[in-house]
Amino acid sequence: MADEPRYVEHAFDGDVHVLRIANPPVNTLRTEVRAGLLDGLKAAEREGARAIVLIGSGRNFSAGAEMTEFGKPRKPPSLPEVFDAIEQSRAPVVAAIHGNALGGGLELALACHARVASPGAQLGLPEVKRGFVPGAGGTQRLPRMIGLEALRLIVGGDPVSAEEAERLGFVDAVLPGELEKAAIAWAREAATSGRQFVLARHRTDRIQGQDMAAFDEAARKLLARSRGQESPKGCVEAVRAAFTMPFEEGLNVEREQFQRLVAGEQSQALRHIFFGEREVARVPDVPEGTKPLPVRKLVVIGCGTMGGGIAMSAANFGMPVTVVESTQEALERGLKRCEANWQRTVASGRLSQAEYEKRRALLTGTTDFEKAVGEADLVIEAVFEDMGVKKEVFARLDKAARPGIVLASNTSTLDIDEIASATGRPELVCGMHFFSPANVMRLLEIVRGRKTSAETLATAMDVGKRIGKLNVVVGNCDGFVGNRMTGKRGPQVEKLLLEGCLPQDIDRVMEAYGMAMGPLATGDLAGLDIGAAVRKARGTVAPIADAVVAAGRLGQKTGKGYYDYDENRKRMPSKEVEKIILDMSEKMQVRRRRIEDQEILERLLLPMVNEGARILEEGIAYRPVDIDVIFVNGFGWPAWRGGPMFWADRMGLRAVRDRLAHYAEATNDPNLRPAALIERLASEGGSFAGMKGPARA
Ligand code: NAI
Repeated sequence: MADEPRYVEHAFDGDVHVLRIANPPVNTLRTEVRAGLLDGLKAAEREGARAIVLIGSGRNFSAGAEMTEFGKPRKPPSLPEVFDAIEQSRAPVVAAIHGNALGGGLELALACHARVASPGAQLGLPEVKRGFVPGAGGTQRLPRMIGLEALRLIVGGDPVSAEEAERLGFVDAVLPGELEKAAIAWAREAATSGRQFVLARHRTDRIQGQDMAAFDEAARKLLARSRGQESPKGCVEAVRAAFTMPFEEGLNVEREQFQRLVAGEQSQALRHIFFGEREVARVPDVPEGTKPLPVRKLVVIGCGTMGGGIAMSAANFGMPVTVVESTQEALERGLKRCEANWQRTVASGRLSQAEYEKRRALLTGTTDFEKAVGEADLVIEAVFEDMGVKKEVFARLDKAARPGIVLASNTSTLDIDEIASATGRPELVCGMHFFSPANVMRLLEIVRGRKTSAETLATAMDVGKRIGKLNVVVGNCDGFVGNRMTGKRGPQVEKLLLEGCLPQDIDRVMEAYGMAMGPLATGDLAGLDIGAAVRKARGTVAPIADAVVAAGRLGQKTGKGYYDYDENRKRMPSKEVEKIILDMSEKMQVRRRRIEDQEILERLLLPMVNEGARILEEGIAYRPVDIDVIFVNGFGWPAWRGGPMFWADRMGLRAVRDRLAHYAEATNDPNLRPAALIERLASEGGSFAGMKGPARA
């Protein structure tokens, strides 16, 4: 054995050398790995290797660059230096890919003389999703191997399977069985049979004569999906260079795009969310090693809008689920809605009939509450939002369910502790707050009651994860995190309408910011009667919103709300609503004025940030990034904007404090007085991101 650099193991099989990347868990290409590869290549050369197999240890080839090294002084060797050594190696270097080869990991493989892969391995360049472009030659090598298809892979950022990669032409062979052995045999055979390897940088066959009008058309289609985001455009420019420039010049274009984008705010935002989505899995109230209870069979009470969606999520991810309804009629209606929903996906070609049947078979329905619940390993309740009803259902669940299983509620506003008090097992009760449509939205707020045990939280998190959700554990309060924060936006929406805006002005600003949908259009989609009912229950008024509802405009379901809708649900500004608003301004003697976009944006986002700060003070959310992850995954907040707390940090907390104080005064809204946490951080020159430990004031 030669010297063993710690992060790259060097092994032999006769004259075939093996370099094994060993940087668990995902073999990122940190400095020590790059150095180890370079040393290993030199040693193999020195020792007269006939061929070199490059492979990952553990479950992956490599997930790519070590993103935590970004923004720090670069330590040699760089990836391009490693790639130069590969390309200059006398012995062919064969990348052997299992698990994932992503980003820099795939770029490493693309620089090799050949690539072999295990069936089902995933290969991709996801850099665009982190806000930059592949920065180590990926945008130049991949087009030289597979032509225009590279544009889709690089701009879209989704991985493809080894089989698809072979079909496209950037994997030479898919090898079943134990990969290292198979790769050694393949490399030996290739090297001894005199097979000619042409490095990607020397190939022109797939880029020559590319019709650039077709390129532009393909690029236009791909970019149409990424409104406002910079990295997809950067990817297009880098890939364009592959078709129009010599290799080295193309690399320069790629490097410029990479450096510009990686330093930009969008990439910082995307990486903030990327790491945040991993961070939220670390839950202070769930000590490491806490075992979830085993759950095989899920039971959902209520097969309405939410119950049906939750059940579909389970079936979509292979978990058997039974829905319980109160009447046969409601049950049939609920199951039909699930079927119709799936059938639409089949019709669109995104789901095969066979897969549909598999999912449908996992879903059963019954009206026999006691029997179904008696067989459950976990129950999620999704009946009407009414404390009386919920407590009744939970008392009944407690009797019917096996002792020791978790009972969860999908309530969006009610007190989990009070619901739990209806049972003799409050430690096994928690909230599992899904978002509508529950089969689509990734966010799941898991609500921790006063008595909820760590094991219960771990169980809810385990089930959430298994049915494709992104869990964020939150504390128990009215609206939990997401709805509590958006709720604080409402009063400012009213005031903006009174002072000079129309619905379309507000939505335009929020959509230009990048939100999937502005707040008024969202209200129309959800139904304006919901907010009206909440206001009524709380004894609050919103003159304009109330007048819109009073005019019978309940949103899309009545064909009109803040907007008019045509038969295709296309929204149009409404004359009637404009009149309601203007009349109300006059009646309340508010002089209407032109309101700048920046003011609209601040008055909608700052109240949310302020409430977010209070949520942190109260320990309802563990960390600022938890809030940002919630907004990106449940509220259509664009990931490249990083979420509300990230936005506030960019603005600077001193400015946030001052603007809040200003609007509190100017709009007579005491709720906008800066939260204590914001006051403190602003006076210390601090930021949300810089907070250490819990924020409790
Ligand atoms: P829904 O009215 O569409 O569905 C409720 C279903 O529960 C109905 O089909 C009803 O027949 C059934 N049901 C009532 N009592 C029952 C009982 N004792 N046993 C069995 N089935 C019973 O209501 P939706 O919108 O699905 O809401 C359900 C829960 O989810 C509520 O707590 C709501 O606050 C919450 N939620 C709603 C969201 C939404 O956007 N609609 C979002 C997140 C949570």
